[in-house]
Amino acid sequence: MEGLGLCVITLLISSVFQKAHPVRVTVRETSVQVLRGDSVLLPCSFVTMATLSRLNIIWTVTPLSEPSSPSQVIVYDRGQVIESPSLIGRVSFRSVSLSADIVLNSTRLSDAGTYRCVVNNPPEPGAPGIGELSLSILAPPSSPLCLWDGRADEGDSISLSCSVEEGVPVPELRWDKLEPDQISLPVNKEGSLKGTVRILNISAQNSGLYRCTVSNPLGTEACSVELSVYSTSHGASGILQAVSLTLCMALVLLALLALVLWFHRSGHDRKWREEGEEEECYNEIRYTPELLRKSFV
Ligand SMILES: *[C@@H]1O[C@H](CO)[C@@H](O)[C@H](O)[C@H]1NC(C)=O
Ligand SMILES: *[C@@H]1O[C@H](CO)[C@@H](O)[C@H](O)[C@H]1NC(C)=O
Repeated sequence: MEGLGLCVITLLISSVFQKAHPVRVTVRETSVQVLRGDSVLLPCSFVTMATLSRLNIIWTVTPLSEPSSPSQVIVYDRGQVIESPSLIGRVSFRSVSLSADIVLNSTRLSDAGTYRCVVNNPPEPGAPGIGELSLSILAPPSSPLCLWDGRADEGDSISLSCSVEEGVPVPELRWDKLEPDQISLPVNKEGSLKGTVRILNISAQNSGLYRCTVSNPLGTEACSVELSVYSTSHGASGILQAVSLTLCMALVLLALLALVLWFHRSGHDRKWREEGEEEECYNEIRYTPELLRKSFV
């Protein structure tokens, strides 16, 4: 309606001065934000003197993720609408006779970028009218991934990392140690979506629950890591336990193997003696140590 009014006024002025003007384009907002998945209106109004029979509107986007490869969004040419193949079913003009506004449905993060509408209306002279606006797609942070790297032995160092795949605006990332007191830890940022905490010369006091929290105005997510630091003496006894357990298992295996062999042999003993095929028996025994070694690995 506003566009029509402007159009009429401009028509009057132009008829007074008997002078042609190029198409003029205005965008009502230069920055538009929408929650991912929602529909968004991209505004572009134009004023022209000529009839709309040869009207041509081209919308293009320079994606935020690929600034060097602008692409077409939708085209209106003399009554025909052509959508970009990648956007078919998601983009449409609102009402071409009134404006060049388009609606983008089911928005995705990849839709973010700089949009331009270019309006040409021959025989209107001069350069086409151009409008530009930026579109941001907002999303809450995704669930972060907490990992730790290093050995949890006394005196070693360890790093806790937390990475989040998406979130617009860029989520704030923090690491806290929760027990026994909540302490905020200094975070080294690696890019905008990853943060690590490095703990040097760890001791039993560093044991506990560590939590990474990622948040932006749309939401908060967290993940955590439980760190148990073994003191060196504990570590040694742990190794001893592990070794003795392995030894125990090996002994049991050995006993089983001996039992099986014994059954095998006593079952076949008579047969072997009769047929004189003792070689096979030696073969089996020769392989035994190897089997044993495998059980140690
Ligand atoms: C976008 O959604 C609106 C409202 O739900 C609907 O009227 C319009 O047809 C949709 N556009 C496309 C291209 O599907
Ligand atoms: C590591 O920590 C222990 C006590 O927790 C301390 O005695 C030792 O000096 C520290 N070593 C280094 C290299 O900082």
